[in-house]
Amino acid sequence: MKQTVVLKVDSQQPDIEKVRVAANIIREGGLVAFPTETVYGLGADALNSKAVTALFEAKKRPIDNPPIVHVENISDVYRLAEQIPPKADQLMKEFWPGPLTLVFKRSETVPDVTVAGLDTIAVRMPQHAVALALIRESRGPIAAPSANLAGKPSPTSAEHVFNDLNGRIDAILNGGPTRIGVESTVLDLSVEPAMVLRPGGTSLETLKMILSDVKLHPFVVTEKELAIENTRSPGMKHRHYAPKAPVIVVEGMITAVMATVKLLIANYWLQDKRVGVLATAETAWAYEADVVKSLGSRRNVDAIAANLFRLLREFDEEKVDIIITESVPTEGLGLAVMNRLRKASGYNIVKAG
Ligand code: TXA
Ligand code: MG
Repeated sequence: MKQTVVLKVDSQQPDIEKVRVAANIIREGGLVAFPTETVYGLGADALNSKAVTALFEAKKRPIDNPPIVHVENISDVYRLAEQIPPKADQLMKEFWPGPLTLVFKRSETVPDVTVAGLDTIAVRMPQHAVALALIRESRGPIAAPSANLAGKPSPTSAEHVFNDLNGRIDAILNGGPTRIGVESTVLDLSVEPAMVLRPGGTSLETLKMILSDVKLHPFVVTEKELAIENTRSPGMKHRHYAPKAPVIVVEGMITAVMATVKLLIANYWLQDKRVGVLATAETAWAYEADVVKSLGSRRNVDAIAANLFRLLREFDEEKVDIIITESVPTEGLGLAVMNRLRKASGYNIVKAG
């Protein structure tokens, strides 16, 4: 077991001494969790293959699923990647720092383990003072997957990181809860037209303002598990975001969804199961179940995204046998929310109405 040090920092003006302590750990090949605007990341020196190998081990992550490499200046992208198309410059100028990850052909300077043996690399510049200061003080790109144990919901607070990884990593920079709450959008620029591999913090509507021909990978909108050969991003094929209890997603018009959720609750109660419901502010009052939690108002998908992973984790403490969740509109960040809920359920989707 390692001794995991927690360093509390201001999210906007982090204490540079504490950031330097963390940066030294990274430079020496250690592992540091840090906040970004999306979720907490677990960082290692992206150019140190031993450190990146340790990163996979700490998370218990399958080694075929590469992390995102985080930079704090655009010139680093040109060291890590090749064949950077002109539209990438426009995207980086418009959306960085921010929740958009770009996939390019990799350069030879990147160790194989950092890209899990792929011929591409995923890069992003996070919009968070702590993350940017850590990368700057480490003097190099930082490989950072989300700082959760593989398969669990991504961490949106330092407490979530601590619960999953205490004793397995060297330090946590605690900069409070993250703002966006779902991970970055992963956009593949190594194919034509550009393709969204994972919906996230940068909405499709926003991307289309610059990339009118952008496509969604079929996996992003699928309602069932795709055959592995159809995946383009290794993360697509792994079980993800899952609380301890099984999850059922109920989709359809909201009145039909409510009726179906009630039927399901009644059914599980007949089997003496402890039932949790994940609802919204407008509908939560209507359910009688063992535990009812509200994601927030259906009119504010940004708030729903910010609450999602915390609520999924809270159900673990409620010891429910089953979690029934409503669907939310797929506009804006709603697309990312529904993608995570469907994955959390293992595509256990019930169509209402
Ligand atoms: O917001 C985020 O993106 C957070 C914060 C910490 O930056 N990071 C994050 O990392 O969510 P992770 O490792 O949990 O998810 C990275 C995703 C995975 O689905 C992975 O398969 C995909 O990006 N990915 C990484 N490299 C790739 C590549 N070369 N080609 C396609 N997909 C790639
Ligand atoms: Mg992850």
